Amino acid sequence: MIPPRMNRQAYIALTLLFSLAFGAVAAQTPIDSSKGLKDYFVHFFPIGVAVGPKSLSGEHAQIVLKEFNSLTAENAMKMGPIHPQENVYYWKDADSIVDFAQSHGLKVRGHNLCWHHQTPSWLFKDQDGNPISKAILLNRLHDHIRTVVGRYKGKVYCWDVVNEAIDDDSTKFLRNSLWFQLCGEEFIIKAFQWAHEADPAALLFYNDYGTEWPQKRARVYRLLKQLLENAVPVNGIGLQAHWTMVEPNESELRRTIEVFSSLGLQVQITELDISVYPSEKRSPQESKEWPTAFTQSMEQDQIKQYQMIFGVFRDLKEKITGVSFWGLSDGQSWLNQYPVVGRKNYPLFFDRDFKKKKVYWKVVDW
Ligand code: GLA
Repeated sequence: MIPPRMNRQAYIALTLLFSLAFGAVAAQTPIDSSKGLKDYFVHFFPIGVAVGPKSLSGEHAQIVLKEFNSLTAENAMKMGPIHPQENVYYWKDADSIVDFAQSHGLKVRGHNLCWHHQTPSWLFKDQDGNPISKAILLNRLHDHIRTVVGRYKGKVYCWDVVNEAIDDDSTKFLRNSLWFQLCGEEFIIKAFQWAHEADPAALLFYNDYGTEWPQKRARVYRLLKQLLENAVPVNGIGLQAHWTMVEPNESELRRTIEVFSSLGLQVQITELDISVYPSEKRSPQESKEWPTAFTQSMEQDQIKQYQMIFGVFRDLKEKITGVSFWGLSDGQSWLNQYPVVGRKNYPLFFDRDFKKKKVYWKVVDW
């Protein structure tokens, strides 16, 4: 109804003005409850999350499906859980993640095939508990890779083939793990070759943390360059991205992505979380003294850090083929147990009630 004392033309002009102004505001606001993270970043890269089987039903599954288009098994595909005895595989958890992804059209990142942690107890010993030879260990690795990659052939689009093989000590090169002690660097080369044989279409990644620290980055670069020069089938680098509010800084982050990309490798951010505590290299005692509430200043610093890193990712989107968070909500994060058991952390986009934190809205608003 036209208000009294207003002619028709004035009324039309006014409503037009109003709707233009209102429409412009609506178009600018990023808040659209029908969208998930994957939709905001649809023109950039897939957005993933690490899950266990419990995240695949009920309310959690709804969040996973709304927000993400890629899954990583947080533990289920690691050698310890999936291959608990020499001739026994435990497929149930990994299968449930892959089946869920398949039935809902999500990608799956395979994680991981060869690592020095979460290995099964039988792996490095014979039946009497004595150390095994290099030939036997490589044979076991071959069986493992052939079986696991073979089972998910065509369903897992990329694999973290080798995880964390570089030493943290800047004077050393490869980590002095049991893999290295028994096989030298050959286990790395063989792992990639066998993964490629088992699924020639899968993209194969080397995955590590601390890749932004110049001294570690240089050694990861050296390893990858050597592999490529020797025609080892490696397609990408996974930057784990267990970061803090001060690390990495923007220039090191850019440099890291650019340097690895210059080798012709895909770059993926594979395990993203931002601890609200300053540095995880503090002693457990010092870490314990840090306040455990999520203060306003922590919230602000975390927002700034996440905005910065997503700004860099968007900028370098041609080089980045995936960004995955390490967990769905703050309450589920491994950082509540590391480096101080039971210290509350707040590293992700969803709080302990699975509600979106302010950082979520700030990151999708660019
Ligand atoms: C490393 C591993 C992951 C996970 C995290 C901590 O980054 O690659 O699988 O275990 O540590 O949870």
